[in-house]
Amino acid sequence: MDHKTNYRTHHCNELCSADADGKLLVTLVGWVNRIRNLGYIVWVELRDFYGITQLVFDQQRTKPKLFDKVIGINNEDVLKVKGTVVRRKSPNSNISTGEIEILVAELEFLSHSAIIPFTIENQTDGGLELRMKHRFLDLRRNPIQDNLVFRHKVVKSIREHLWSHEFIEVETPFLIKSTPEGARDFVVPSYINNGQFYALPQSPQMLKQLLVIGGFDKYFQIVKCFRDEDLRSDRQPEFTQLDCELAFVDREDVMEKFEILLKVILEKYTNYTYSQFKRLTYDEAINAYGSDKPDLRFDMKLVDLSTVAKGRGFNAFDNEEVVVGISIKDGAKCSRKQIDSWINWVRRPQLGAKGLVWVKYGQDVSFRSSVSKFFHESVFELWMKKSGSSKGDLLLIMSGSRKETFLRMGSLRTHLADQLDLIEKKKFSPLWIVDFPLFQYDHEQNKYHSLHHPFTAPISSEIKRLTNNWNLREEGAEYLLSVKAQSYDLVLNGNEIGGGSIRISDHILQKNILFLLGFKDKDAQSQFGFLLDALKYGAPPHGGIAWGIDRLVATLRGENSIRDYIAFPKNNRARDLMMDAPSDISETQIQELGLNSSVS
Ligand code: AMO
Repeated sequence: MDHKTNYRTHHCNELCSADADGKLLVTLVGWVNRIRNLGYIVWVELRDFYGITQLVFDQQRTKPKLFDKVIGINNEDVLKVKGTVVRRKSPNSNISTGEIEILVAELEFLSHSAIIPFTIENQTDGGLELRMKHRFLDLRRNPIQDNLVFRHKVVKSIREHLWSHEFIEVETPFLIKSTPEGARDFVVPSYINNGQFYALPQSPQMLKQLLVIGGFDKYFQIVKCFRDEDLRSDRQPEFTQLDCELAFVDREDVMEKFEILLKVILEKYTNYTYSQFKRLTYDEAINAYGSDKPDLRFDMKLVDLSTVAKGRGFNAFDNEEVVVGISIKDGAKCSRKQIDSWINWVRRPQLGAKGLVWVKYGQDVSFRSSVSKFFHESVFELWMKKSGSSKGDLLLIMSGSRKETFLRMGSLRTHLADQLDLIEKKKFSPLWIVDFPLFQYDHEQNKYHSLHHPFTAPISSEIKRLTNNWNLREEGAEYLLSVKAQSYDLVLNGNEIGGGSIRISDHILQKNILFLLGFKDKDAQSQFGFLLDALKYGAPPHGGIAWGIDRLVATLRGENSIRDYIAFPKNNRARDLMMDAPSDISETQIQELGLNSSVS
C-alpha cells in the first residue's frame, strides 16, 4: 500500500463496508471538510487528496474527555484520528466510503486553521481575486486538483509516447540572450556582469536548432517559456511548451509524427475516434472561417458576396474592398432585438466594425432586410443563392477592407455559434493550417515581419530565389508577401495548440531573411551570430514544433481559460496575487545590480 505512512494506515478514500467489522483499527489524517454537530452526536468529514471519510463522535460511545475535545474542531484543521471502522446508519451513496464511518478513539490536532476566507467546495463562494490570493486554499478544492491531476496524466502520456519513439529529453538554459520572437522579453539583470541582462526564453527556438545541428536526431522538452505580452484567457506570461525538434525531416514527417501524438492523446482522454486530420491552407481558413484557428465543430462558412453585392449603387458596399456574408440556418426567426445585439457586438471597440446588414429569407419566399429600400428582391435572391441560404435563414453581411472584414466576420461566427448554442461541446475537431505567408508587412513601422519566426524556411520552390539576392527588398512587396512558409499550426476546437516549421538550414538564406527583417549584418551577427555560425558548419535539414501544454489540456476539457490548469497562475494583469509579484526591490539590490543608471 503506497499510501501507508508513519502517520496513517489508510487514506480517506479507501475504507468500505467490507472493513466495517467494528474491529479494524485505523489511523487517518486529513483536513476537516465539514462538521455536523447535533449536540449528542458529532460527525466530522475528514478530507485528504484521495477523498473523504466520515468520523463520528457520540456521547454514548465516545469517552467524555475526547467528546469535550470535539468542540475545538474547526474547518480545515489538520487531524490525526485513530478509531474503528463501523457501518453507518444512513449511508451516503455519493462517496465511495459512504457506507462506513470511523468511531474515533483518539484525536490529535496536527495543525489548526484560522477561519478560511472562502469555502473549500466544488462551487465555492470565493471570488477570483480572493481565490488567487489564497491559491494554496483554492488548490484544496476538487475541481482544481482534478485539473492538475489531468494535466499530469496528459503530460505523462506525452512523455511516454516520445520516449518510446526515441526522442531525447534535453534541458536548455533559462538565462539566455534576448531573442526576437514577437513578444517582449522578460529580462534578468546580472550582478556578476554588472549592467548587463539575460533574457528568459520566449521559447527555446534557437537552442533546439543548435541541438540538432549538434547531432541530436530527435529532441524534446517540456519547458517553461516566458513572454511579457498582453494577456487573454488563453495566455499566461509564463506557460509550458512541449518543444520538439528533429533532424533530417520535411514538413510531412513532422506533421505525421505529431498528428499521431495528438491522436493518441485525444483517443486516450476524450471520446474522439481518429480520422486523418483536416488540412486547410491559411488562405482557405481566412476566406471560409475568418480565422487561422477555426473551430470546425460547427460549419457556418463565410461567403464573399462582393461580386453580387457591389456595383449596385449602395455606397456602404460599393466603396469598400469586400462584402462578406454569413448565413444562419433557421435564423429568420431571430428577433430584431437579437440581431441588434449582434450589430452592437461587432461595433464594440475591440472589433471596431461599422455594423451589419441583415436579410431574412422567409418561409413564404419573401425577403425582409435592413436594406430593402436599396436592393430589388432579385438581388437578395442572388445573395441567398451565393451564400447557400435557404428559406427560413438569416444572412448577416459586413463590408470593409479585405483582411479586417474576414477577421471580424470570423469573430462574429464564433460569437454566433456560442449564442445560438451550435457547438457540440463533447466534439473534438483537430486540423492543420499550412501554407502561411512567410512575411507580413507592418505599414506603421514600415517593416517586414515573419509570421512565425525568422528561422522558418520558405517553401522549397522559392529557396533559390531568396538565397541568391542578398537585398530581398528588391524582389518587391507583391512577390515577398506571396511567398509561403514551410510552417504548420495545429488547431483544436478553435484554439491554436501548436505551431512549428521546417527551419532555414543555409546561413546565406538566413542572413538574407534577417536583413529583410531589418537586421543589418552587424546587428544580425551580434544578435544571432551563434546560429549563423552554426549554420556554416554542416547544418542538417531540420524542423520541429511546439505545443502549448496549458492550452492543450484546457481544450481537452472543453475550456478556454488555461488559468485553472496551472498551479500558480498570474491574473490578467500578469500579477501573482499570492506572492504579490512583481514587486519593488530594495535600493541595495538596485545598486548592486548597477541598475541605478538604467533606471534614471
Ligand atoms: P509559438 O509562439 O506558436 O511557437 O508557440 C507554440 C505554442 O505555445 C502556446 N503559447 C502559449 N500558451 C499560453 N500562453 C502564452 N502566452 C502562449 N504563447 C504561445 C500556443 C502556441 O501554439 N518556437 C516556436 C515553435 C516552433 O517553431 O517549433 C514557438 O514558440 O499553443
